[in-house]
Amino acid sequence: MQHFLSLLDWPAEELRRLIDEAVFLKREYQTGGNRPALQGKSLGMVFQKPSLRTRVSFEMAMQHVGGYALYIGPQEIGLGKRESIADVARVLGGYVQGIMARVFDHEHVIQLAEWSPVSVINGLSDYNHPCQAMADVLTMQEEFGQLQGLNLTYIGDGNNVTRSLLFAAAKFGFRLTLCAPEGYRLDDESIQKAKAAGGVDVYRLVEDPTEAVRDADVIYTDTWTSMGQEEEAEKRRKVFPPYQVNYQLMTHAPKHAIVMHCLPAHRGEEITDPVADGPQSRLFPQAANRLHAQKSILVRLLGR
Ligand code: CP
Ligand code: NVA
Repeated sequence: MQHFLSLLDWPAEELRRLIDEAVFLKREYQTGGNRPALQGKSLGMVFQKPSLRTRVSFEMAMQHVGGYALYIGPQEIGLGKRESIADVARVLGGYVQGIMARVFDHEHVIQLAEWSPVSVINGLSDYNHPCQAMADVLTMQEEFGQLQGLNLTYIGDGNNVTRSLLFAAAKFGFRLTLCAPEGYRLDDESIQKAKAAGGVDVYRLVEDPTEAVRDADVIYTDTWTSMGQEEEAEKRRKVFPPYQVNYQLMTHAPKHAIVMHCLPAHRGEEITDPVADGPQSRLFPQAANRLHAQKSILVRLLGR
């Protein structure tokens, strides 16, 4: 059974094929609609956290290809509480042809996949966010035509989104420059795994934000406080202001650089309005690309 839990689990060539298929499905959708590749197939969507993009893009993606998506909210199945994860996986897998899960603990999505008779897709965990990274890669490819040799500078909290971008860099041949305060950087194990997959140049740490953006093709940021870290929000608000993506910082970046953010944004914290809504922003095409990137993953995993 093939799952989509981390980009590191997939060969680079297959990930590139998923992006090619996303490009095809996007064009097909925009020129008359998608063929019903998943007619009669259902996706169970387990959410332990809130969501706008992931929830709606998965649901619409299934609908566009003739399938059905079932939303299961945080209060409903009590993953690992009301019932063991192993039992949930086997029961749910008896009703649907695929499971998408958004969880707190990455171990839980791994356990779901271990026990599920159908493919499991990681819709964000505390460890990573692989579907987001695929949409980001699609967005970068649309902008620059290719990914090889690009430099993505990530400014702010080294989190689940950052880690998936690092793994994407390793698989798609671009470089991740991280600019994050001490204590909020990526773990060595993730960096070593990325280097093993993509070469030593895949990752670089630059401490000064103005230096970090100087040769950036993409400037990427995300919230300083991720879901599940709310009790640290005050502390984090004191640490991260030097890492804000604002107009002043953008004056140090190349003119061609684009700005990306997985959203939701906390405007006035990690990013300011003039940048989020400015000419270099790609925030909304990026969000829209979740639909196409995930449709490709769904058709690949459920379409057999
Ligand atoms: N970027 C993202 O995953 O957004 P949601 O939390 O709204 O799904
Ligand atoms: N890092 C954020 C991403 C939200 C899509 C979080 O985990 O809350």
